[in-house]
Amino acid sequence: MKSRQVVIASEFKGAPQPSNFRIDEVDLPAVKDGEVLVQNLFLSVDPYMRAYTQFLKVGNTMIGQGVAKVVESKCDAYKTGEIVLARCGWRTHAVVSDLTLLAKCPASYYPDISPSLYIGALGMPGLTAYYGLLDICKAKKGETVYVNSAAGAVGSVVGQIAKIKGMRVVGSAGTDEKVAWLKELGFDEAFNYKTAGPIGDVLKKYCPNGIDVFFENVGGEAFAPTLSLMNYYGRIGVCGAIAGYNDSQPLQAPLFHGQLISKSIKIEGFLVTTLMTRPEELKKALGEMIGWYKEGKLKTRENILNGFDKMPEAFMTMLKGGGHGKFLVKV
Ligand SMILES: NC(=O)c1ccc[n+]([C@@H]2O[C@H](COP(=O)([O-])OP(=O)(O)OC[C@H]3O[C@@H](n4cnc5c(N)ncnc54)[C@H](OP(=O)(O)O)[C@@H]3O)[C@@H](O)[C@H]2O)c1
Repeated sequence: MKSRQVVIASEFKGAPQPSNFRIDEVDLPAVKDGEVLVQNLFLSVDPYMRAYTQFLKVGNTMIGQGVAKVVESKCDAYKTGEIVLARCGWRTHAVVSDLTLLAKCPASYYPDISPSLYIGALGMPGLTAYYGLLDICKAKKGETVYVNSAAGAVGSVVGQIAKIKGMRVVGSAGTDEKVAWLKELGFDEAFNYKTAGPIGDVLKKYCPNGIDVFFENVGGEAFAPTLSLMNYYGRIGVCGAIAGYNDSQPLQAPLFHGQLISKSIKIEGFLVTTLMTRPEELKKALGEMIGWYKEGKLKTRENILNGFDKMPEAFMTMLKGGGHGKFLVKV
């Protein structure tokens, strides 16, 4: 059995370039007792992969998660033909001996839902939105939520959950097309942060009662003006810092200690992996998300590129803001 894999061909400097990637073909070993052979059906491209490249070397396979089919199983936990979530990197196939890289996927219980959604709105990005908004930020009915990179895989779900739970939600995104989509999704207000003017002024207009919850996906310069508009006992969930992932220096933002203290604002960074290690909470979150999706309350948009060779293109396009919703590849 052969597998194709995307490896790092040259060190990343700034935004990824096609020359940073190479596709290799390798022979896979025979499946041994306790192992599973999987074939990726859909592979995700996510911003964290760019940040993670600093830990990878030339020749390493790009890391990542996919929805995969078990082609051969010599372990009791997974059956041949089963659909699973597989963290095997950007590969078409893999022989998995470390079973912690695999996870059960709800696909078998819901044949009417596309398996691709389990790496999107009903998977890691969607669960990040749920966990960050409800558990970390403890957003409540009637509160005002502001989310940036709002038309992305995480942000678009943040806004929709906020509406489902009775909050007022304001989102920012980088094109007018994205802004129009946010309105379609039910955001109360949305604006193009590249053209709308100084972010502090824009947020003041769209959040006349201040911001209770700031779901931070971006980082950098816009942090300080947003902080100034936070209400007493406001919560800031630091989810991502995509504005700095291509930089060699860590992203920084000015903090105003006086504002934090006098308004009793809480800032908390988080990783969705925490939720993944809490089976009961994960089950509850996923159950609610799937329910909303089936009821038509949670809408999804997928940018699916066809063919394994498109992995670098999908990744680069997603990072550049070349579309809204979730980017992935149909292998
Ligand atoms: N903590 C966790 O466990 C966790 C889990 C998943 C994701 N995350 C983080 O959450 C954030 C959103 O993730 P996602 O998967 O939904 O990705 P995403 O928002 O779909 O990421 C792509 C978008 O980022 C925006 N962007 C790119 N460069 C930017 C810049 N310099 N300034 C502002 N916006 C920029 C672009 O949108 P515009 O056109 O609107 O600029 C682009 O479409 C990322 O920072 C990611 O690392 C964290």
